[in-house]
Amino acid sequence: MSTHEQYEQWNAVDSYLSDTLGLADPALEAALKASDAAGLPQIAVSAPHGRLLHLLARIQGARRILEIGTLGGYSAICLARALPEDGRLLTLEFDPRHAEVARGNIAAAGLADKVEVRVGAALDTLPLLQQEAVGPFDLAFIDADKANNPAYVRWALELSRPGTLIVVDNVIRDGKVADLTSEDPAIKGTQETLALIAAEPRLTGTAVQTVGSKGYDGFALAVVTG
Ligand code: SAH
Ligand code: DHB
Ligand code: MG
Repeated sequence: MSTHEQYEQWNAVDSYLSDTLGLADPALEAALKASDAAGLPQIAVSAPHGRLLHLLARIQGARRILEIGTLGGYSAICLARALPEDGRLLTLEFDPRHAEVARGNIAAAGLADKVEVRVGAALDTLPLLQQEAVGPFDLAFIDADKANNPAYVRWALELSRPGTLIVVDNVIRDGKVADLTSEDPAIKGTQETLALIAAEPRLTGTAVQTVGSKGYDGFALAVVTG
């Protein structure tokens, strides 16, 4: 199979899974449509991965969720839907245009009172969260600028409790993560993140490779052990 055919198959299987499992519901479809209309990049998690995030939040019994990297709010909607009535998701976004689109999508999904979108570079807004003592979070989903992932994992740890789950998106990147000669700051950031998960005694983690409509990529998962 050519690379193109392989990609087409991953895409077709993601569509099949999405249809068969009923993952493409109106609010998520509307969020993607509004994001496209506003010219946002098409880099939200896939429908199956969005449901995986939802399930992880459910399994975790999450009441407070931190997200770094909102885009149009697709993953935020998936995660926030797992929250109980008094649960809250705080999502950090650098681009005010993305944040505005996300707020609209989150409101249209009926989640406005559970989700707060904060605008700013996450390295500037994370210290404020600590000052405000909004943590600890039960789950952190890290999906912003990859070069800063080591710092984001450290912040997630800072704002965690024993048992907190940390999920990092896009850690495989077409297999580039295993290129130890890479000078790409995103790849180096990911490699450092995995090394940090391994070296940090309070974290037990792994990474899983995935294929699908977003290509060949993967997640890192780590639990805070105390
Ligand atoms: N989690 C989203 C996709 C996020 S895409 C979803 O799956 O639906 C990455 C987002 O991170 C983009 O919106 C980008 O603007 C944002 N971002 C990039 N650098 C950032 C930074 N330093 N702080 C906060 N957000 C950042
Ligand atoms: C990119 C970022 C993402 O978070 C993602 O899931 C896919 C691609 C990107 O910056 O290219
Ligand atoms: Mg991502």
